[in-house]
Amino acid sequence: MKITKTSKSRINEVDFSNLVFGTQFSDHMLVAEYSEGKWSEPEIKPFGPMSFTPAMHTLHYGQAIFEGQKAYYMEDGSIGIFRPDANAKRLNHSARRMFMPELPEDLFMEGIKALVDIDREWVPKEKDHSLYLRPFMFGSSEFVAARPSEKYIFCILTSPVGPYYAGNVKVKVEETYTRSATGGVGSTKCAGNYGGAFYATHQAKEEGYMQVIWTDHKNHELIEESGTMNVAFIINDTFITPPLSDRILGGITRDSILTLLRDRNIVKVEERPIKVEELVAAAEAGTLQEAFGMGTAAVISQISTIGFRGTDFEVGTPTDGYAMKIKKELTDLRSGKTEDTYNWMVKF
Ligand code: COI
Repeated sequence: MKITKTSKSRINEVDFSNLVFGTQFSDHMLVAEYSEGKWSEPEIKPFGPMSFTPAMHTLHYGQAIFEGQKAYYMEDGSIGIFRPDANAKRLNHSARRMFMPELPEDLFMEGIKALVDIDREWVPKEKDHSLYLRPFMFGSSEFVAARPSEKYIFCILTSPVGPYYAGNVKVKVEETYTRSATGGVGSTKCAGNYGGAFYATHQAKEEGYMQVIWTDHKNHELIEESGTMNVAFIINDTFITPPLSDRILGGITRDSILTLLRDRNIVKVEERPIKVEELVAAAEAGTLQEAFGMGTAAVISQISTIGFRGTDFEVGTPTDGYAMKIKKELTDLRSGKTEDTYNWMVKF
């Protein structure tokens, strides 16, 4: 791998006690290019602008996918990346559906390790902080004919981050707009899934909510995700989360939580469709104990209010409830406080 180091680190310009998610970038980035059916050798170089003409394919047709993952500072002083192999596989899942070339998994794994290693000083040491890693791929051919790009760029940038949302989240059940549809691209991390959500989220904000709970495209009956995260509820001491489908992103945090809950018998788990009507009935009956989003950026984000057709249902956000217990199990594993029996951490 070709490595060109920066001649002047920017690390002293960063206030690590005041990080705003995804706004500051470490010294280096990784870039690999695809053309004529082959990936080039990746190159690590100083973080900085790329240059394109306005004909660049992604700007027009959006063959663009990304991943989100984190590197943590661990108790023994090493750095650990959480389940990067799962991100490599999911990137390729997105690539196949978006008709983009797959990236060899070893290029992804070796590239991400080398990049984090070179900027290891950028991994924050504070509790609930991490180095957020953003691998992404986009079509880079320079033509506006409506056909797939022939060239692609794979890039990884990294960004030191603190907690994603400050505090609890007020959400609204979305019954007008949809995030995804059967046969669509909802299970991929394509850029358009996020761009397409901004308008609905903005509308919810105007009504005083921070995020939406997405429901199915047909009848808006089934709960699917919340904001950019998978969603789960604790009803009658049971953890309930919608099953994966081609409309729902296979979250790595979601998968890790399900694995821990099942293996450690923390709570009864049900991975099954859940209707808005069931959620509202549970809120009215007082059996809805907790609600939360699960994702890489926020890990677990407790939902304090669910708005449905003009009524706000308050939900408990206990500090000693299931959400916080699950978060602690994950955090302890990631920091090395408890044994990583799954070999989820790639340490160096
Ligand atoms: C996540 O919850 O990890 C996300 O996908 C959020 C990201 C788009 C910032």
